[in-house]
Amino acid sequence: MKKLALLGGEKAIKTDYSEFCKWPIITKEMEEKVLEILRKGEMSNIELTKEFEKEYAKLYGMKYALCHNNGTAAIHSALFGLKIGKGDEVICPSMTYWASCLPVLSLGGTVVFADIDEESLCINPDDIERHISEKTKAIIVVHYAGYPADMDKIMAIAKKYNLKVLEDCSHSHWCFYKGKLTGTFGDVSAFSLMSGKSFPIGEGGIMLTNDLEIYERSIIFGHYERHSEITIDYLKKGIGIPWGGYKYRMHQLSSAVGIVFIKIFKEIFAEIDKAMTYFCDLLDTLPGIKTHRPPKNSGLTKGGWYACFAHYDKEKFDGLSITRFCEALRAEGVLSFPGCNKPLHLHPLFHDIDVYNDGKPTVIRNSQRDIRSKVGELPVSENIGKKVFSIPRFVKFDKGVIEEVFSAFEKVVKNYKELLKDDKGDPPTLGNWGLTFRV
Ligand SMILES: Cc1ncc(COP(=O)(O)O)c(C=O)c1O
Repeated sequence: MKKLALLGGEKAIKTDYSEFCKWPIITKEMEEKVLEILRKGEMSNIELTKEFEKEYAKLYGMKYALCHNNGTAAIHSALFGLKIGKGDEVICPSMTYWASCLPVLSLGGTVVFADIDEESLCINPDDIERHISEKTKAIIVVHYAGYPADMDKIMAIAKKYNLKVLEDCSHSHWCFYKGKLTGTFGDVSAFSLMSGKSFPIGEGGIMLTNDLEIYERSIIFGHYERHSEITIDYLKKGIGIPWGGYKYRMHQLSSAVGIVFIKIFKEIFAEIDKAMTYFCDLLDTLPGIKTHRPPKNSGLTKGGWYACFAHYDKEKFDGLSITRFCEALRAEGVLSFPGCNKPLHLHPLFHDIDVYNDGKPTVIRNSQRDIRSKVGELPVSENIGKKVFSIPRFVKFDKGVIEEVFSAFEKVVKNYKELLKDDKGDPPTLGNWGLTFRV
């Protein structure tokens, strides 16, 4: 048996595999297009952005697309588009990045957290209904780490209670749910397009909708440069300055990258899918490990495989902490970290911080009832950090390299008993508020 690197043995990985995971992919054509915009001094124009929007909307078969300077802004606009305002309750999964729901508070609304499904890491549809009140106006769905949420059940609940649906597709570019693209189910969808995402064009975000009013409300909110396009009377009355007081225009260096990436992304995603399917098939042969991906032939696909994770079954490792397990992997040369996004309902901002000096916590400033979730109320979101860990995301298929990285997992799994002796256990919480992994 080979000795684990953490215990002084030789590293399983000899190759520097970072080249095979390097993201984003920047092509010569992108560089030239960016330079063209720079040289023309058209960074703040919107013609190229509009071209990109047209292409993106066409790709998704949607009527309207509106670019924003980031995904957070796209979500903020989308919520304003949905008329979320004072006292409105919006249901959101607790385990997500903060931008999925924090703009609700900025609009005077209230966030009510639901738990996630342990398998998909997306909102658990069976936990939505108990959070619905007469004030509930919308559900935010996050297709977490590219795993499409259970849209059949979610849309049925939305229909039953007449609720709006906002899909946060920041992790799910070109992901399909039973043959239909995520981002085309709800009333509106928002995508982050920042450099780490599967559709990386630089800082940027895009909102999609088929609803003219949502689209024009988003324009009035943060896109004063497009106010002349507005057709709806009550909005037309107030054109010229943005109602939200925000300037959400995306600069055209991002549009330049986007206009090229949109032509090539399917080929890139196919390569990622090939590489990750091969890698995950190997990982799934190991006892105690199950990669985070929809079942094969389910009609659910992972698009660009943003943020790759695997489930860790501690029982199968005689209680070995996920912290120690990942430490051993890193010693072998694999960049793996325990945890995912931390549960938002446990952050002080969703308990007692008075952001706007209202004399009461912002989270309930306009609420008739105390919607704050206590520790223990959303158990899956609270405990998931100790049950999942990040795995490398290969964007290039190389059988040998993938097998070499896999050999490190295999070695740690086979030798886990050696790690039990000095296992200090897991810290009380694992994961991050953002998806940046640190040791
Ligand atoms: C789920 C989710 N929603 C929204 C955002 C916000 O996007 P951006 O960083 O472009 O503002 C992110 C970004 O990390 C995200 O992961």
